Amino acid sequence: EKQGYAHFMLKEIYEQPRAVAAAIEPHVNPETFSVALKNVGFGGQSVQKLEELDAKADWAKTQEVFKSIERVFIIACGTSNYAGNVGKYLIEQLAKVPVECDIASEFRYRNPVIPAKSLVITISQSGETADTLAAIRMAKEMGATTLSICNVKNSTIDREAHGHLYMNSGPEIGVASTKAFTSTMAVLNTLAIAIARTRGVMSEAEEKELVKSLLAVPSQMEGVLSYDKYFEEAASSLKLFRGFLYMGRGTSFPIAMEGALKLKELAYMHAEGYAAGEMKHGPLALIDERMAIVMVAPTDHLYEKTISNLEEARARGGKVISIGTGDNEKLREISEHYLAIPKAHWTVNAILAVIPLQLMSYHLASNLGYDVDQPRNLAKSVTVE
Ligand code: M6R
Repeated sequence: EKQGYAHFMLKEIYEQPRAVAAAIEPHVNPETFSVALKNVGFGGQSVQKLEELDAKADWAKTQEVFKSIERVFIIACGTSNYAGNVGKYLIEQLAKVPVECDIASEFRYRNPVIPAKSLVITISQSGETADTLAAIRMAKEMGATTLSICNVKNSTIDREAHGHLYMNSGPEIGVASTKAFTSTMAVLNTLAIAIARTRGVMSEAEEKELVKSLLAVPSQMEGVLSYDKYFEEAASSLKLFRGFLYMGRGTSFPIAMEGALKLKELAYMHAEGYAAGEMKHGPLALIDERMAIVMVAPTDHLYEKTISNLEEARARGGKVISIGTGDNEKLREISEHYLAIPKAHWTVNAILAVIPLQLMSYHLASNLGYDVDQPRNLAKSVTVE
């Protein structure tokens, strides 16, 4: 069932435009460019019955919840946690609600303070991750309203949650998560817009603009995928490095973390994801010509700051691979490999920027002869602590 692809992971990377389209489709009206979350089920219905709900009444119930909350927590593990970190930037900036994103295994054991008017969002592809499940149970006990974003319908976490959203990615077989990650970021975009509009902090014009940019993402992703030969070329130079520092700011920071995780789990090479602004606080000392700097630098409000970090890293001898927007002369000039994504709104750049990072790790690992679908020591679903 690999449909001609060498690995499930490669097939799943190429399925991403379709997966993202499927993730947003239930919630977005492509004629009015507006968002209304479809059949979330905050009314207490079982997950099997969600499709039978009256969509209008259900949306009114969801809006009631969104109006009442004072805080948002996003809890997940691994790649789902990085998607959650993108969600934190989106919800905070668009909906102006304070958001905390935490790793489930930390959250559950640190006796977190969860005020009653909190929305606790858990993200889990499998819906079976032990720590995430424990976190949602704890949040419920403490009186919070819970919302799950799962890929596997009727999974344990999906059944535990008060409200339900779905990645709609189709089965993800590769242990390294790809399409579930991009679909989740798309769902989080619709969620952030929905909360913002419901709370009256976003204009209709802004909603239209954001929905249009979201609807454009699947075809923009196709565009990025069509540049795979450049990602493969960049990957072929990576074997020689002693280490990798992935960096970015804003939503590109969690993308740097995700890029580093993909390299670790697939190619078994040491990579760190870092906030670019933290570079001077330590990692700069690591940089020499045997260190690769992977900089995620799309053109957004943080671009200039990211570039100055990049120039500093280069001055210390680091070899640069950069991801940027369009035909960026500057980045092309200072990078060994420059990988372009199309011009997009900052809210969706993360969905596009992760694709070159996924494909670079994929090519590097498969050229090294590693089992990309089943990396050593890892399981698809971590159901024990
Ligand atoms: O099923 P979940 O989304 O809860 O899984 C969480 C992590 O175990 C998962 O994302 C893991 O980090 C992947 N191997 C990353 O590629």
